[in-house]
Amino acid sequence: MTRAPFIVIEGLDRSGKTTQTSLLQARLEREGISTKLMKFPDRTTTIGQMIDSYLKSTSELDDHVIHLLFSANRWEMASTIETLLNEGTTIICDRYAFSGIAFSASKVTTTTTTPSSSSSTDATTVPKLPFEWCRAPDVGLPAPDLVLFLDISPEQARLRGGYGEERYEKEEMQARVRQAFKRLGDETRTSSPTGVAASGKQWLVVDAGRERDEVSAEMWSHVELLVKGTLTSPIGKLWN
Ligand code: TMP
Repeated sequence: MTRAPFIVIEGLDRSGKTTQTSLLQARLEREGISTKLMKFPDRTTTIGQMIDSYLKSTSELDDHVIHLLFSANRWEMASTIETLLNEGTTIICDRYAFSGIAFSASKVTTTTTTPSSSSSTDATTVPKLPFEWCRAPDVGLPAPDLVLFLDISPEQARLRGGYGEERYEKEEMQARVRQAFKRLGDETRTSSPTGVAASGKQWLVVDAGRERDEVSAEMWSHVELLVKGTLTSPIGKLWN
């Protein structure tokens, strides 16, 4: 039995991820490929509305709770993802479980101390949630066949007008998130030097600091191979 591919676009804030995801969807449609665009968080569901108000800082939630809500918001769609892929609809997904881990694992508690011999202060940061704890709730979700990670440096993001108003859009946080994404990408590459993991997952870094059309052309070159090929492997499960 053949099925359609599941393609995830991950990236830092200001990487142009949402624009590039729409351009990719338009290109797939022009090629006559049946496509569904998904986005996480999906703010339309009841859980998604709780996430939305947390991100806009109109509500406060414990860090564990919001992490589990982000994951639950993906599980709400898990069976739909599988059905669509098996019916032959290509899924393009704007953020997925990798964002879930990268953002939550980048939350830190900062303590400052002033050594008696000095007038300056030392800052120590400790993660609020362990990396593996953050991964656990997403284990078993449908695994993407391809992850395109849109990478941008904090300096380039600043040139694009800096970050927005939502909760995690702060430069220090984004720098930690970038490192966490790097760790997730390295993990995939370590399981296979070509970047193709045993489960069929593939993680590719795209330099998103370039012109919009250059980025979209590179993304299409990776996606085209997948959508024009024949996929017979069953849908994988994340981190199983
Ligand atoms: P968005 O700007 O792509 O709508 O994403 C909203 C914010 O939520 C963004 O800062 C990334 C963050 N996020 C998480 O913290 N955990 C998750 O699981 C997802 C999908 C996003």
